[in-house]
Amino acid sequence: MYHNPVLLKQSVDDLVINPDGIYVDCTFGGGGHSREILSRLSEKGRLYSFDQDLDALNNTIEDERFTLINQNFRFLENSLLMYGVDGVDGVLADLGVSSHQFDEADRGFSIRSNAPLDMRMNVLQSLDAKKVINEYEEEELADIFTIMESFARQENWQEKSYTIEKQKE
Ligand SMILES: C[S@@+](CC[C@H](N)C(=O)[O-])C[C@H]1O[C@@H](n2cnc3c(N)ncnc32)[C@H](O)[C@@H]1O
Repeated sequence: MYHNPVLLKQSVDDLVINPDGIYVDCTFGGGGHSREILSRLSEKGRLYSFDQDLDALNNTIEDERFTLINQNFRFLENSLLMYGVDGVDGVLADLGVSSHQFDEADRGFSIRSNAPLDMRMNVLQSLDAKKVINEYEEEELADIFTIMESFARQENWQEKSYTIEKQKE
């Protein structure tokens, strides 16, 4: 199983209110949410899904109404314009890491295995977690932990950046 999406029906219930509409799934992953959205669309409806992870492309859906875009969804607007789409009826984002990314030890997302510190969702980009941890200054690490604190209730960021800095010495 690539990924078992949570709140699948509930999230799509509130999203697809126009079966003929154009929808976006920002985080395709295993395609669970995308399949559910497509099941609510008429023949006229369209779905554009994004995922920056090459592995996710293996889960693509053969459906004329569907387009999978291997791109960071921060480029959503420009990417959709390339398909002639300048407005949508709804956008869904199931933010976070997929089960697949956790399960593949070499991806470096999980502490369950002894693996390289990687954590790149887009493996074509050069910046990985190893570089961040080893080369960023304590203040830069503190900035990252501050952001994590606000999004993920990550606590004691000052202590964490200090601990990493001490390990480098
Ligand atoms: C929690 S999983 C989504 C699972 C999906 N809803 C499903 O039903 O299988 C998150 C996915 O979003 C992708 N992702 C995370 N941030 C992204 C971004 N900024 N741009 C594009 N894809 C992203 C990840 O690669 C991962 O595959």
